[in-house]
This record gives sequence, structure tokens and C-alpha cells, in this order.
Amino acid sequence: MKTMTCIEDLRRTYHRKVPRAFVDYCESGSYSEQTLRANRADLERITLRQRILHDVANRSTKTTILGEPAALPLVLAPVGLTGMQHGDGEILACRAAQAAGIPFTLSTMSICSIEDVAGAVEKPFWFQLYVMKDRGFIRALIERAAAAKCSALVLTVDLQVIGQRHRDIKNGMSVPPEIRIKNLFDIASKPAWALSVLNGKRKTFGNIAGHYPGMANVTVLSKWTAEQFDATLSWKDVEWVKSLWPGKLILKGILDVEDARIAAKTGAAAIVVSNHGGRQLDGAPSSISMLPTIADAVGSDVEVMFDGGIRSGQDIMRAIALGARACLSGRAIIYGLGAAGQPGVARAIEIMRNELDVSMALTGVTSIGDIDRGVIAGMGWFHSSL
Ligand SMILES: Cc1cc2nc3c(=O)[nH]c(=O)nc-3n(C[C@H](O)[C@H](O)[C@H](O)COP(=O)(O)O)c2cc1C
Repeated sequence: MKTMTCIEDLRRTYHRKVPRAFVDYCESGSYSEQTLRANRADLERITLRQRILHDVANRSTKTTILGEPAALPLVLAPVGLTGMQHGDGEILACRAAQAAGIPFTLSTMSICSIEDVAGAVEKPFWFQLYVMKDRGFIRALIERAAAAKCSALVLTVDLQVIGQRHRDIKNGMSVPPEIRIKNLFDIASKPAWALSVLNGKRKTFGNIAGHYPGMANVTVLSKWTAEQFDATLSWKDVEWVKSLWPGKLILKGILDVEDARIAAKTGAAAIVVSNHGGRQLDGAPSSISMLPTIADAVGSDVEVMFDGGIRSGQDIMRAIALGARACLSGRAIIYGLGAAGQPGVARAIEIMRNELDVSMALTGVTSIGDIDRGVIAGMGWFHSSL
């Protein structure tokens, strides 16, 4: 694992070890993938300010997220189908996050269920909720998350309809994978992956199986998904969820200042500035380019979190400098999981923590609280508003 020195190493190994359909599912963005690319390109345009001869011997990446201590300002983002990237992937990723001292978020569309994960890990985790048409099912999911002592509910608000990912359609993405002539060789050449998935607790959507018995079949799944995502979703539904959820609520998928202002008034504890990793509105701005304005507008009312394109500790520093309290990471964590299971996730977190630590030293800061716009040397798109 020591030779895995950066997230890119984990990504390359992940591509070798996991079947094409699941790699494509992870890597894709919607439509022309313009927003997916912008997330990375805009982060890379932010240059950091090299400072010298500050005593930086005593540094710490520790912080608090929603009032709880965290080893670094990083959270594992909700990622659907994680248990198809590696058998029991949700449990392994959650264990790695908890061992590293940071929160893990379980997706509604996970393979392991809320109860599977709760029974296999030591500490509470966050649960991500999609509000679907069947409100009885959603109410029951919220109750299940509360019974499992989930410590925050992440309500995703940017998926009222689904952005199309071309490769998923071309690959005939299904859960569990459909064995066709086309993908037979691919699956057969990934024995470690096949074994881990075969030995995993489940092969379909753990939170939904039982409620919708036909979910294993791709046609039923597509039909169900298309029918269940609810285009009528409104701020009233946020109130409804809040009335049912006794704990901290996080609204994920905010990319507009006006929406952020409304979100801050709902009583939510935090918002996540996000464009769903470039998987929803293609043509939307990168999330990093929207972060500073949103953080300025609502940062004193709610915790502002950020995701979209985080691949290094330098990226975490960029987002913290522009007003994020913490970053969520989706793909970088999946690269680690697919490359090497739990140790791979642990490695991904460690890589980003070490990079953050060194970047702090070289920009002359010793604590996360010290990271502000002063560590930024320049940034292409709206330098003048800094
Ligand atoms: C394969 C994949 C599946 C995802 N599934 C979900 C999901 O079930 N719920 C959700 O709120 N966000 C989901 N997301 C979005 C992530 O939570 C997060 O916003 C995004 O991955 C951040 O961008 P990054 O991958 O560049 O870190 C998914 C992202 C990916 C890549």
C-alpha cells in the first residue's frame, strides 16, 4: 500500500480491478460532462500562497464538524452502489472512516442496508435520504435511520429528476451485474472483485429490497427509479422531513446563493455546496466557483460544507480557504475501496490528510482555523471579488 502515493495511483488500480460498468458508473457525469470537468479544472486553477520561515512545527489537521471532533475536515460522501465496487463496500468504508476519525455517509441507494452497517461498525454514521414519491417508505427510512442512531440526516435536494449518464445506458448498468457476452470476459478477468461481491452480504439495494421485491431486475429498477424520484419536491418537503427527524439535518446539493439563503432559514444545521459531482445539471458552474459567494452569504448561520472534485489535501485546503467547514469526497474514496477494500479507503484518507498537513506547513498555517483566503495566491474566475 505504501507505493500508492496519491489518489491517482488508487484510481488506476481501481480501473484495473473493477468491471467496466461500475467504473463507468463512478467516473461519469451527466450529458457532455462539462460540469464534471469544471469541478476539477476550477479547483486546479486556485493557486496556493507559498510562505516561508514561519514556525510550523506544531500543526494539527483536527477540527469539528457539526460540533463533533474530526481528525481532518473530510467526510465520506454518500455514494450509491458502493457495495458493488467491493463486496460489503459500505461497511468497509465506514470502518475505515471511523478508524480515521471522520464521518461516513450511507446512501439511500446503498447495497448494505442501514441495519447491516449499524450492526457492523462501532460508532454512529450519517444517513443520506432521497425523498421519493412513496412518502410512507421515506417515513419508514427516517425511522430506521433514527433507530440505528445515525448522527445526521443528509437530505439530497438536487435529484428531483435524474441527469442522464450516457455510459450507464450503453452499459445496461444493473444491480447485480447482468452477465452478458459483452461483459463476461470483463467480469471473469476481475476474480478478486467477483469473490468479494459474491461473499458480500447483499447483491441489491439493501434499504429498498423487501419494500420493493423486484428491485434486482434492471427493468424493474429503471422503472421504479424513474417513477419514484419526485419532481414535485419543494421546501415544504424539507419541513416535513425536519418534523420527522429528531437530529441534525444537512441539505446537500445547493449551488445558488438564493437557495442557500432559504436553506439557512429551514433550521438545517448545515448545507453542502454541491452539483452532485457533475452528475445532474450539465452546464452548471463548478461547485468550487460557487462556494465563496454562498459561504459569505450564509456561513454564519449554518455550517457550509463542500463537494465536487476533491482529489487531494491541497483541494481540501482550497475549499476550506474559500469558506467550507468540511469537504465531502465521493470518487476518491471509491478509488481506494475498489483498489484495495478497507485498507484502500484508509489509504485514500491518509494520503489526503498528509497532503493537507504538508500544504499547511508550506503555506505557513498550523491549524484548520487559520486556513482562510490568505492562503490563496490567485484564482482565475473571480479574483476581483476576493
Ligand atoms: C458513483 C456515485 C454515486 C453517487 N451516489 C449518490 C447518492 O446515492 N446520493 C447522493 O446524495 N449523492 C451521490 N453521489 C454524489 C456524491 O455524494 C458527491 O456529491 C460527489 O461524488 C462529489 O464529487 P466527487 O466524486 O468529485 O468527490 C454519487 C456520486 C458518485 C460518483
